[in-house]
Amino acid sequence: MEDKIQVIVAKTAGFCFGVERAVNQVYQQIESGVRPIYTLGPIIHNEEVVKDLEQKGVRVISREEIRDIHEGTVIIRSHGVGRQVYEELEKQGVHIVDATCPFVKKIHHIVEEQNRAGRRIIIIGDSTHPEVEGIRGWADNRTLTAKTEEEIDSFVLKKDEKICFVAQTTFNYKKFKYLVEKFSKKGYDIIVFNSICSATEERQKEAERIASQVDAMIVIGGKSSSNTRKLYEICKMQCGNTHFIQTLDDLQPESGNSVRSVGITAGASTPKNIIEEVHTNVRTKF
Ligand code: F3S
Repeated sequence: MEDKIQVIVAKTAGFCFGVERAVNQVYQQIESGVRPIYTLGPIIHNEEVVKDLEQKGVRVISREEIRDIHEGTVIIRSHGVGRQVYEELEKQGVHIVDATCPFVKKIHHIVEEQNRAGRRIIIIGDSTHPEVEGIRGWADNRTLTAKTEEEIDSFVLKKDEKICFVAQTTFNYKKFKYLVEKFSKKGYDIIVFNSICSATEERQKEAERIASQVDAMIVIGGKSSSNTRKLYEICKMQCGNTHFIQTLDDLQPESGNSVRSVGITAGASTPKNIIEEVHTNVRTKF
């Protein structure tokens, strides 16, 4: 019976393009033999990966610790950082490996350019998120951030101000559109860059499609990862027999259900080897 089970693995399961690229860059630095290697903040929100890197000699440092680093390589993660951080690193004489996601880098360029042209920047996103902090670091101190209607309404601006809107890459598109449309009624000269990245939405759409076609669905990711939980909820709506697991060991399907097809997806911080392990062994579990 076992070998008859069809297994479908989502193409968008796991790391998005930007995170995969950043993680690969860290491993490339390790292989190249340069030492010491630092990442500015954890390269990814996955303890296993960070621990593995630590064992290979990669240390996570905070922004404040930059001043103590005088040699080696500092890797900037996919979220990106503000201009000042590059300047600080250069001053310290360290080698910079910039793993900022190209989609985020594009926002930095837009913000810098539009700000130079006199526009005030409004970022739609979470002001405490490192990506947003980084974006803010490419414009002047007039820059504002909002993620709710109330915040947008509370802005007091001069009548003739010119505005440029950008979004945090993971922000919800409908909400972004709604907030910008609401603001545009105030009559300012605005330009809008929809800088939302489609990776998250594509992962969710593919998971939903697969879950609607299979007898059992597996979602792999950390229990505290909010994007994995969201994936689980989406799949559960389509397939009652959906399992949220961190590793293969967690997969304990109820016996007696006849399962002929299984779908697999994974959250944004789930490494490929965990997905592959589940893929390889899933048939033995049902
Ligand atoms: Fe990932 Fe870059 Fe999009 S880090 S979510 S591919 S903006």
